[in-house]
Amino acid sequence: MKENTFQIKMTQYDHRKELPFADQELVNLAFEAAQNAYSPYSGFAVGAALRLANGVVVTGNNQENAAYPSGLCAERVAMFCAASQYRGIAIESIAIVAQNENFDIHEPFTPCGACRQVMVEYEQLHQVNLRVILATKSGKCVVVEGMENLLPLAFLAKYLKE
Ligand code: THU
Repeated sequence: MKENTFQIKMTQYDHRKELPFADQELVNLAFEAAQNAYSPYSGFAVGAALRLANGVVVTGNNQENAAYPSGLCAERVAMFCAASQYRGIAIESIAIVAQNENFDIHEPFTPCGACRQVMVEYEQLHQVNLRVILATKSGKCVVVEGMENLLPLAFLAKYLKE
């Protein structure tokens, strides 16, 4: 019997103004994207902005549906849009933000499991360390470098091969 312990690493900033400039830019675009979220059921508007290796920025927001499971998270809207329009170009960083219509958000939220799984897929595909920026308007922000820090023990494409 052997017990394994894993460590995960993330960097915390007290305010988004302390983030590196390139991250601040993405965060601002993510907040803009959140304004166009379609979230009438949850009131939780999420925005995502990702930067590709060619410098192009693609944004997305959550799209809800009266048939709840038919909706999609902001991160996957952005990632699938980027993958479909810029096939083969790596996603290098993604900023994710949220605005709740009922209260201010002071703690960054972490992406759902399904979005993390999709981030792992593209990270593996393009052999890059994805930079994930989780930001709030006036509170703390967190930067995670590499999906092994957000989804350790992820399901990988290699498990499907012999
Ligand atoms: N949502 C996202 O867009 N991203 C996440 O990582 C978690 C949740 C959306 C889905 C739904 O529209 C709303 O937030 C509440 O769950």
